Amino acid sequence: MSSERGGGARRLAAADLREMKRRGDKIAAITAYDYLFARLVDAAGVDLVLVGDSLGQVVLGLGSTLAVTLDDMIHHARAVRRGVDRALLVVDLPFLTYQVSREDALRNAGRVMQETGAAAVKLEGGSPETCDTVRALVRAGIPVMGHLGFTPQSVNLTGTRVQARTDDGAARLLEDARRLEEAGAFSVVLELVPGTVAQTVTEALQIPTIGIGAGVGCDGQVLVLHDMLGLNPGFAPRFLRTFADVGQVAGDGVREYVRTVKAGEYPGPEHTF
Ligand code: KIV
Repeated sequence: MSSERGGGARRLAAADLREMKRRGDKIAAITAYDYLFARLVDAAGVDLVLVGDSLGQVVLGLGSTLAVTLDDMIHHARAVRRGVDRALLVVDLPFLTYQVSREDALRNAGRVMQETGAAAVKLEGGSPETCDTVRALVRAGIPVMGHLGFTPQSVNLTGTRVQARTDDGAARLLEDARRLEEAGAFSVVLELVPGTVAQTVTEALQIPTIGIGAGVGCDGQVLVLHDMLGLNPGFAPRFLRTFADVGQVAGDGVREYVRTVKAGEYPGPEHTF
């Protein structure tokens, strides 16, 4: 399932995630948007690196993912690809690159695969139309990850809130998840859904669920790198844990640099040729 590369390193393939679920191995996923962080997260042992369209907010300073373009995604994914040796590399298809027509979706997902070297794409939604697109992409040889629950490209319809809170909502989520699996998706992200609902979906599917704000009952977890490293101050949803306060350390470092430059302490003799 994993591909052998020159040097013998094993790169995870989409099918490996299903095997991990079968074995009961949890899947650790994280986003990355540039080469150095990609190298760091890959070396730290993540199984899946997602070049998320969350780059709109955490890299480009936009208010949502909606203005992110296919060229933005390809630009960042090419850099990430150079830093990833082992993890499965998945790239988000941004807003309106797969919803307008199946032909568009094939062409755009094909560009991502050809121009970035990604192993898979991710798209949002589980309607019958979306699943027809998933089927067409998979038939063309493009592994697809689904994304249900809160889907950021629909933020103007839903707002940012926990989804599938009602029985009807939970039933629809399960139906969408089953439809995605049937269409050939290799995995599905569940974002902002109650833990009990995510667990039910997880138990109903053969393909792994990757949760974000969906409790511990999913087969794996994904977080936005900048959020879990304290680099996105002010963003503090209940599900988020700051695993290392890199933002604080980085700010302290830059403040100390400024102080030492202004005091004439840096560069010292040891930094001078
Ligand atoms: O864009 C993104 O980073 C995502 C994750 C939050 C799953 O879709």
